[in-house]
Amino acid sequence: MVLGGAVKALGAGLACPDWPLCHGAVVPNLADPLIAIEWVHRAVALATGLILLATLVLALLWFRADRVVVLLASMSLVALGAQITLGALTIVSRLDPVVVTSHLALATAVFASALVLAVLTVVRPPETSAAPAETPG
Ligand code: HEM
Repeated sequence: MVLGGAVKALGAGLACPDWPLCHGAVVPNLADPLIAIEWVHRAVALATGLILLATLVLALLWFRADRVVVLLASMSLVALGAQITLGALTIVSRLDPVVVTSHLALATAVFASALVLAVLTVVRPPETSAAPAETPG
């Protein structure tokens, strides 16, 4: 999200005018700072996708009994996929304000979902989340 803000603030939104390549290359000329910031934004988005995929796999392995954790991990990955698609649309639409604003809104939703997931896994570790609820008395 910080890199996205930098892309916007520096006016680097169309420094890579094509997608998924940048100037027709997987790795463009990174000596141009505007191209570099836009390309790194995309590369970090890809890394984030892989991390959220690993998060879902681990949620299924370690938190299978905790449906909220599995649901949040699934939602985060799906929302991230939609976010990357919206990122591509910002390029294709030549920075249409509605698309860019939606891109910012969805980024906030992905962050919120991943944050709640992280907090939940700390306050409800696997051994407690899978345990049956205690009966009062
Ligand atoms: C983890 C996934 C991503 C996140 C969290 C994310 C987040 C953001 C954020 C917060 C902004 C600033 C928006 C604003 O201030 O209005 C932004 C801008 C931008 N993002 Fe992303 N982004 C992601 C992936 C992508 C991808 C994959 C692309 C391209 C294929 C992309 C292209 C852009 C562009 C071009 C801008 C600048 C828009 C402008 O200059 O008006 N983003 N992004």
